[in-house]
Amino acid sequence: MHKSRCLALIFAVLLGFFSLTSGGEIKNQHRESRHGDSSYIFNHTLAITLVEYSSAVYTIDVSALFSWTCARCVDKIKDFEMVEVIVDIENCLQAFIGVDHNLNSIIIAFRGTQEQSIKNWIEDLFSIQLDLDYPGMPGARVHHGFYSAYHRTSLRPAILSAVQNIKSTYWNISIIVTGHSMGGALATFCALDLVVNSGEKDVQLMTFGQPRVGNAVFATDFNEYIPKAIRLTHQNDIVPHMPPYYSYFPTITYHHFSREVWLREEGVGKDKQLIEQICDDSGEDPTCSRSVYGNSLSDHFDYYGVELYADADSPCKFIMAEGTEEYNKGVGGNIRLSRNPNPTLFRQSS
Ligand SMILES: *[C@@H]1O[C@H](CO)[C@@H](O)[C@H](O)[C@H]1NC(C)=O
Ligand SMILES: *[C@@H]1O[C@H](CO)[C@@H](O)[C@H](O)[C@H]1NC(C)=O
Repeated sequence: MHKSRCLALIFAVLLGFFSLTSGGEIKNQHRESRHGDSSYIFNHTLAITLVEYSSAVYTIDVSALFSWTCARCVDKIKDFEMVEVIVDIENCLQAFIGVDHNLNSIIIAFRGTQEQSIKNWIEDLFSIQLDLDYPGMPGARVHHGFYSAYHRTSLRPAILSAVQNIKSTYWNISIIVTGHSMGGALATFCALDLVVNSGEKDVQLMTFGQPRVGNAVFATDFNEYIPKAIRLTHQNDIVPHMPPYYSYFPTITYHHFSREVWLREEGVGKDKQLIEQICDDSGEDPTCSRSVYGNSLSDHFDYYGVELYADADSPCKFIMAEGTEEYNKGVGGNIRLSRNPNPTLFRQSS
């Protein structure tokens, strides 16, 4: 038996099985009936594309990112029209937004944290509180830090105006939001914001190695608004285990939304293969990443063999126009590079 499950079982016995059996099952049925689009299927091809976007957004050379000439940009994605790159210097955040003409979608990508030490950041996740009521969703609680990083920085206004700008040119276009690690948490709040506050109809989310961001009520509400949501987790990646979920107190702790897809490695050497395990719609499938110890940093930085971390040795560093000007945290003045969408450059139809 896996250790985490064993531990949970011991606790359940000690606590007289409270809330684990009856409460859990009812909650599950409840969730299934409320999930309108449980038929939404994980798309491997899409995941392979989106992990490239989530990697590209870590590029510190903002000019190369904007011109889509950065090493991580030119790799696999050809038909991408960059519209806006946003760097919030003060809060050390970065995002971009553009149009993928193959997918006929707006892509919004958020970078993960670029703190001095990712280890410190992860350690801090242990103890963060569900300290904010999500506006307009009774009982839904989230962590104010994740919420604020999207809602109370320069990212949100820039993204919302870029979406409007793109939609005035490409009116019938869907939206895909993506990100890795902390970027996945920002992507979560962005996707929800677009549906709840901007009235967007066709928004999907795919994140890589994101932490939990809210409680069970938030998770349920989130899945109602964003039925097309996939959270990829890789093997023993530590971050999806943070902040902790306590299975014997399922309603009062942090709780992932669904649907997890667990990337686990099987076999060794030449026989090694990556299994994409589609998890149940509870958000906390005990047979997926929760069945192992989440203790790996290297699994966190690698999804499908794509590197997901900043290409700089110092944190919060940004470069403009290839090495000429450098912007560091504290200098002030956020960076926003934008252009208007230009359909004549892209001839893909429908
Ligand atoms: C999966 O996504 C790709 C685009 O990345 C698309 O061409 C394909 O039709 C999708 N497959 C399914 C089954 O939806
Ligand atoms: C708009 O896009 C959707 C899905 O991408 C498609 O099914 C629909 O036919 C499109 N509508 C028009 C008027 O092009």
